[in-house]
Amino acid sequence: MEKIKVVVVDDSEETRNNLKTLLSFEKRIEVIGEAENGEEAIFIVKEAKPDIVLMDINMPVMDGIRATEEITLSIPETTVIIMSVQSEQEYLKKAMSAGAREFLNKPFSTDDLIRTIIKTYDVESKRKEISSIPKIKEEIKSKVITVFSTKGGVGKTTIASNLAVSIARLTKKKVALIDLDLQFGDVAIMLNVSVKNTISDLIKEINMLDSDLIEDYLVTHFSGVRVLPAPIKPEYAEYITSSHVEKIIKTLKENYHYIIVDSSASFHETVLASLDISDRILFLSTLDLPTIKNVKAGIDVMESLRYSKEKISVILNKASEQFGIRYKDFENTLKHNIWAYVPEDSQTVITSANKGFPFVMTRTETKVAKALITIASELTNEKEVDVVKEKMTFKKIFGLG
Ligand SMILES: Nc1ncnc2c1ncn2[C@@H]1O[C@H](COP(=O)(O)OP(=O)(O)O)[C@@H](O)[C@H]1O
Ligand SMILES: [Mg+2]
Repeated sequence: MEKIKVVVVDDSEETRNNLKTLLSFEKRIEVIGEAENGEEAIFIVKEAKPDIVLMDINMPVMDGIRATEEITLSIPETTVIIMSVQSEQEYLKKAMSAGAREFLNKPFSTDDLIRTIIKTYDVESKRKEISSIPKIKEEIKSKVITVFSTKGGVGKTTIASNLAVSIARLTKKKVALIDLDLQFGDVAIMLNVSVKNTISDLIKEINMLDSDLIEDYLVTHFSGVRVLPAPIKPEYAEYITSSHVEKIIKTLKENYHYIIVDSSASFHETVLASLDISDRILFLSTLDLPTIKNVKAGIDVMESLRYSKEKISVILNKASEQFGIRYKDFENTLKHNIWAYVPEDSQTVITSANKGFPFVMTRTETKVAKALITIASELTNEKEVDVVKEKMTFKKIFGLG
C-alpha cells in the first residue's frame, strides 16, 4: 500500500520533531518534509506535492492561513489539516474558508493525529476518484460583464438584475448573475429568489470547485437566470478574497454564456478581480456633481490599471438634463462618451423591485425597460472584439501576485 505523504509546518522545531516522532509509529504515514513558516511550506509543497500538510496557524514571515489559501488554489492534490489552539477559533474559521479540510485542536493525542490524517486522506482520495471520471464538454464562448460604479445608489443592482434577465430572454442562453456587493448585496431580494446557499458557503468548497459543484450554490430565478447570492451577513464578506472571485468566475465560464456581476461602490480586491476578468465594464453614473466626481476618479483608476477605453462603457442612469448639467459637459469631464442612457422611472423601477418582478419582463412597454433591452441586445449582438490587448491586472500593477 502506498504511504500517505505528509509535510509538517510549524515554527517551533520542538513541535515539528514531536510530530515527526509521533507519526513515525504509523506505517501508513511518511513525513517527507517540514517547514517553519508559510512561505517555506508553499515552496516544499509545490516541489513535493504531499498528500497532507499539517499546518500551524501563527508563524512568522507568512502565516498558515495565507499558505493554506495558496496551497489549496495552486496545488489541489494536496490537502491541508490545520492545527490550532482553542483560543484561535476565529483564525480556525478563516483557515477553513481558505480551504483547509480538517483541523486538530492542540493539544491532541497521537491517536487523534493519526486518525485525522488517515480519515482525511481516505475521504479526499474517494473524492478525487469520483471527480476524475472524464467528462466530455463542449467549450463555450462566454462573456463576463461587471456592472460597476464608484457610487452607491446609482442603480447597479437594478441594472445588473434586469440586464441578466433581459439577456436570458433575448438569447435563450445560460446566464449567471453574481452578487459581489459582499456586504450589502440585494440581488436576491431584487429578484425575489429564496436563498439557500450564498457565496460564503461556496468558498468552503473552493478547492473542490468545478462546474458541477458550483451549480449547488446557485439559485434559479424564474427567467432562467442562475444567481449566486451575497453573504447573509456583512461580516462574512471579509473571508472572501480576490482569488475566490477569480476561481468562481473562471468556473462559471465553463458553463455559462453570460456572467453578469453586480458590484459594490469600491475598489475592494474582490471587485477588482471581477473587473480584471471582465470583457466589459458597465460604469454607471447619474448626473449630479458628487457622483460625477467619484466616477471621474474611478475612471482614472481604471486608466492606471490600463483597462482599454473600449472595455469601459459609461451608462447614464436616471438620465435627464433638466437639473442643470448637460450630457456634453459630462462627457468632456470624463473624457468618455455616454454609451447608453437609462431614463428615470421610479414608479416602474421601485414597484418592480418591491414585487421582485424585473421590469424587463413585466413592463416591457416602458422606456426604462426598452433602454435595458436595448443594452442587452447591444451586448449580445456585437461581434467578439477582444477589447483587452494585454491583460494588465491590478495584482500585477500593485505587485500583489
Ligand atoms: N432608472 C431609474 N429610475 C428610477 N429609480 C431608479 C432607477 N434606477 C435605480 N433606481 C432606484 O435607485 C435606488 C438605488 O438603486 P440600486 O439599483 O439599488 O443602486 P446601487 O446598486 O447602485 O446601490 C433604488 O431605490 C432603485 O429603485
Ligand atoms: Mg446594489
